[in-house]
Amino acid sequence: MTTTAPAIGHPQHVTDGPMIAVREARYVYPRGRVVALDGLTLDVPAGQIVGIAGQNGSGKTTLTKLLNGLLKPTSGSVVVNGMNTADWPVQKMAAHVGYVFQNPNHQLFATTVEEELKFGPRNLGVPEEEIPERVAEAVEFFGLEESLPLHPYRISFPLRKLVGIASIFTMRPRVFILDEPTTGQDHRTTVVINRLIKRLGERGDTVVCVSHDMPLLADVAERLLLMWNAQLIADGTPREVFSDREAMQRTHLTPPQITQLSLRIPSRAGRPAALSVPELVSDLRGANPEAGA
Ligand SMILES: Nc1ncnc2c1ncn2[C@@H]1O[C@H](COP(=O)(O)OP(=O)(O)O)[C@@H](O)[C@H]1O
Ligand SMILES: [Mg+2]
Repeated sequence: MTTTAPAIGHPQHVTDGPMIAVREARYVYPRGRVVALDGLTLDVPAGQIVGIAGQNGSGKTTLTKLLNGLLKPTSGSVVVNGMNTADWPVQKMAAHVGYVFQNPNHQLFATTVEEELKFGPRNLGVPEEEIPERVAEAVEFFGLEESLPLHPYRISFPLRKLVGIASIFTMRPRVFILDEPTTGQDHRTTVVINRLIKRLGERGDTVVCVSHDMPLLADVAERLLLMWNAQLIADGTPREVFSDREAMQRTHLTPPQITQLSLRIPSRAGRPAALSVPELVSDLRGANPEAGA
């Protein structure tokens, strides 16, 4: 169906349809014949920031690998930026869909951080004179000045994680996929990842972020998907999904503490969950103006 790849590095390029279109996608791992995705259908418009949560083994990583073509659906289809992943090699998909592995050790291979950051754009055929500017932007954003000459395996694990993300950032993909970016990370790295997702959103990029970090998803995601047993069982704003008791219980996920509190205040019964302290405070003041005076 698809004949030509959309132009690379062309932020204005817009597909006619959604940025991501998954239709009845099923994925069965050959080993053990595990059904990891059981007929999943999903549309993501360009520019949306989507969070995905769910228990271990529910199929989140498999779904993200289908989105960048690392895995091809056993049946059904996955189309990203107008490209059906069944028709395109993963190297071509990589120009459009940046995939940050959960474990940076599965991603990094250059001998210095600087080379690692240059590799992606070079491999895409970005003109050599444009590469330093991309690297400089990444170095500043991720705070990697001192790491540039070092071997990626000689720096701390949190920094290595940031290098893994930065090496995708320099490729400037339209779709950015992050698999559990803050798991096992320190506070500073978590803050940088939070800022990154917001920055990508401001640029109009599409972001898919798998995470167990409910406060992160409450803060950055416009839409939250819950996976359970190879299926999608909830899809809405974080506020809607956190308020969906049955889906939250089924996935054993707990909303951020402030959201849990907001759901337990008797005077707020029936009102949507609050996602932040300021939001809850102003909500309570609105309900009872005397309270905050
Ligand atoms: N390489 C593999 N071979 C066989 N089964 C796998 C493989 N990778 C994952 N699985 C299985 O597929 C299911 C979904 O896994 P995964 O997508 O990694 O879930 P999640 O990311 O939500 O933890 C699990 O039952 C898991 O054991
Ligand atoms: Mg996973």
